[in-house]
Amino acid sequence: MRIIHTADYEDMSRKAASVIAAQVVLKPDCVLGLATGSTPIGAYQELVRRHESGELDFSQVSTYNLDEYRGLTHDDPQSYHYFMERELFSHINIDPARTHVPDGANEDAEAACAEYDELVAGAGYPDLQLLGIGNNGHIGFNEPADAFSKGTHCIDLTESTIEANSRLFESPEDVPRQAYTMGIQTIMRARRVVVVASGEKKAQAVRDMCQGPISPACPASILQLHPDVIVIADKDALSLCN
Ligand code: PGA
Repeated sequence: MRIIHTADYEDMSRKAASVIAAQVVLKPDCVLGLATGSTPIGAYQELVRRHESGELDFSQVSTYNLDEYRGLTHDDPQSYHYFMERELFSHINIDPARTHVPDGANEDAEAACAEYDELVAGAGYPDLQLLGIGNNGHIGFNEPADAFSKGTHCIDLTESTIEANSRLFESPEDVPRQAYTMGIQTIMRARRVVVVASGEKKAQAVRDMCQGPISPACPASILQLHPDVIVIADKDALSLCN
């Protein structure tokens, strides 16, 4: 694991955008695995800025998002599909047909997950997978568990994740209880993984990811076994790391 220390959220965002931009420049038809949540927003804004200044062309890029709430349609403002449109896709020249998010509207979990696995495998897995990390060490919606997950699956969100995500809903009751998420095995197949983390709330999870035992109790800890992981984190998020 390479750890890039950054001064603050803006610095983290610029550095993460630089790693993603380098991937797009080196391989214009690359496959990007993308993440939602508050943390990557600054990196997306920076990518948009670089696109607008003519530095970045997304026309050949394909994207596969990590997860989606089960039961939300693409046009639901709380869906991750909508988030990606709002924060990134609508501002860059990406071909909408090349952007992919699990189909939350398909209530048939088995079919929705199998279909997504086929799509990601058919694309040859991401060249670069961007990840945020949950306060409890989750990546995607792979919550702490007894075993590491494999492919895309339907998951029951933990109370701590519902609580953390409720800030984006009117009330905790409105947060969907289930989501479809890429599994750990799929995430580990990406050729490069970039984890972004900011703020003191993430400090314990970042420490467990980088320095803790490799255990499904902290799903992100499996990344210690991946050959190409870049953790880009600010000093608050790294405050518990030695
Ligand atoms: P956040 O979420 O970026 O909104 O903190 C990260 C995550 O839960 O993966």
